[in-house]
Amino acid sequence: MMSAMDLKPRRVLVTYESVTGNTKRVAEAIAAVIPGAVLLPITEAPDPGEYDAVFVGFWCDKGHASEAADAYLKSHPSYPFILFGTLGGVPGVGYSVTYENRVREELTAAQVPFRDFRLWQGKIDPELVEKSKARFPMTPERLSRIAAAATHPDAADLKDAQVWALEQLTGS
Ligand SMILES: Cc1cc2nc3c(=O)[nH]c(=O)nc-3n(C[C@H](O)[C@H](O)[C@H](O)COP(=O)(O)O)c2cc1C
Repeated sequence: MMSAMDLKPRRVLVTYESVTGNTKRVAEAIAAVIPGAVLLPITEAPDPGEYDAVFVGFWCDKGHASEAADAYLKSHPSYPFILFGTLGGVPGVGYSVTYENRVREELTAAQVPFRDFRLWQGKIDPELVEKSKARFPMTPERLSRIAAAATHPDAADLKDAQVWALEQLTGS
């Protein structure tokens, strides 16, 4: 079992882009288990070179990494970022896999040598659900997907994010 005592890097930045709070909650959970970690919104993120490890969190915006985080990553090629994110879909299933692969491919093409990329589910803003009804019919499957996302990120997700984050820093 990893503990904060085993951490190797000393200066750690956790930066995130979040509109409805899901990615921010994951970022806060991660920063909370890393002693001395600096937690900043992506708009205030300094040059990653000032840190030994940089976690960058973003949300899935219509199948792409949210814009400000994407721009930050691509404007610092060659830094080995550690990536995390939230999305409405279930990580590892169907469309979420397409999204994850797309982000990986785009960053690789932009020569951003990220170390890992983990996703957690995040509730979908009710206003967006309302607006998208016109474009996407509310099938029973869609309604149940939205309902399933509504409780995330939950306590288990946040704990999982903390374990994952410590593993990133201990290199195991
Ligand atoms: C404009 C918009 C577009 C979205 N597009 C997708 C999408 O393509 N796929 C998906 O799984 N979730 C999508 N979502 C859901 C968000 O990625 C999810 O709710 C995320 O956790 C929001 O993060 P935040 O609370 O940190 O802003 C979208 C949400 C919004 C508001």
